[in-house]
Amino acid sequence: MALRGKRVLLIITGGIAAYKSLDLIRRLREKGAAVRCVLTPSAAEFVTPLSVSALSEDRVYQDIFSLTDEAEMGHIQLSRDADLLLVAPATADILARMAAGIANDLATTALLATDKPVMVAPAMNVWMWEHDATKANCALLAARGVGFIGPVQGDMACGEYGFGRMIDVPDIVDAVVRHFSGGALAGRRILVTSGPTHEAIDPVRYIANRSSGKQGHAVAAALAGLGAETILISGPTALPDPTGVTIIRVESARDMLAACEKALPADAAICVAAVADWRIKTAATQKLKKNGGGPPVLEFAENPDILKTLSKPGNKRPRLVIGFAAETENVVENAVVKRKTKKCDWLLANDVSPATGTFGGDANTIHLITADRDEAWPTMTKQQVAERLAGQIVDFFGTDA
Ligand code: PMT
Repeated sequence: MALRGKRVLLIITGGIAAYKSLDLIRRLREKGAAVRCVLTPSAAEFVTPLSVSALSEDRVYQDIFSLTDEAEMGHIQLSRDADLLLVAPATADILARMAAGIANDLATTALLATDKPVMVAPAMNVWMWEHDATKANCALLAARGVGFIGPVQGDMACGEYGFGRMIDVPDIVDAVVRHFSGGALAGRRILVTSGPTHEAIDPVRYIANRSSGKQGHAVAAALAGLGAETILISGPTALPDPTGVTIIRVESARDMLAACEKALPADAAICVAAVADWRIKTAATQKLKKNGGGPPVLEFAENPDILKTLSKPGNKRPRLVIGFAAETENVVENAVVKRKTKKCDWLLANDVSPATGTFGGDANTIHLITADRDEAWPTMTKQQVAERLAGQIVDFFGTDA
């Protein structure tokens, strides 16, 4: 009864996946939660108030203008009485209205008025999920601390295939249980590096790479969501700061190493940043000029390897050091060698060839390489990669002496 005494306000919005919310109510209640439901008008086209009421053993809230609702339980109280607001399925429409702060029905009014955590399980057509508008709305909501559960890749009711399918009901229940567990990583201090580094050529030019920081920031957000004290050391990115992390902004590889060393000791370090291997040996102090003598000759120097440095045996070595490997060929073979050379515990290899869209994109396909495992993960969103990695970190510390 992992959810005994917890009150969940389940907001069911109108998508074909709404029928799964009936099973969700049953399973949340099996874990001990009290489930109170808000049904939007379009959700009521997919599931009946009667079945929702029967399964939740409570009345169903549908209409902000219903005098009875307001007399017995105002919308503010409805949102405050819960310990968690869970929107499942969450359509593109409700995510857009949540992002915009619109309160034009009972569901959105409760979501805007609440002072409690909010989790959403998106469900929509793949093109709607991949639309820039939805991506921007989700990024904004995630940055405000809304927890995302899924979606996953799969066949859709509309006959198409891709991301957008609501994650399975048991996975939603697991995420809710994890949310209430007080954080499976509470008490752990974890460093995460993210984004590119910028290596100065002169005061106005630099060498960089295509990392957006999406994967590293998602890892930091997932760890913070599980209660870890998360220090995110980030190169320059255009992303909002994830909720609940301490962010340290740096420019170059050397700055990033210094910030990592200063942030030690830590229980784990996860190097997701795309760190420049080389810098210009001596950056010009003034802007380089075209002086008719031909292009400048730039002499390179090797940057320190942060992952290798953090992996060195010693009393400050985090117990778990994890790297990512960006490869364009022989992904697994190269990553196996890289893990041994850098002496980290785990390495998550990903193909960053331009055709994969890994750099800057929202999806990633990972091979997790450890001393005794090579796990091929299916293509997932970067957020799902982060959650799966965070789950394995929980398991590691759960069994770590
Ligand atoms: O930021 P996104 O757009 O979301 O893209 C995500 C990503 C592709 C950047 C990410 O998933 C990824 O692969 N990160 C590792 C990038 C990288 O630098 O890979 P590498 O194979 O060159 O380095 C291996 C490991 O050594 C990495 O953990 C890296 O952080 C680390 N390293 C590398 C060089 C260096 N001087 N110091 C390091 O610590």
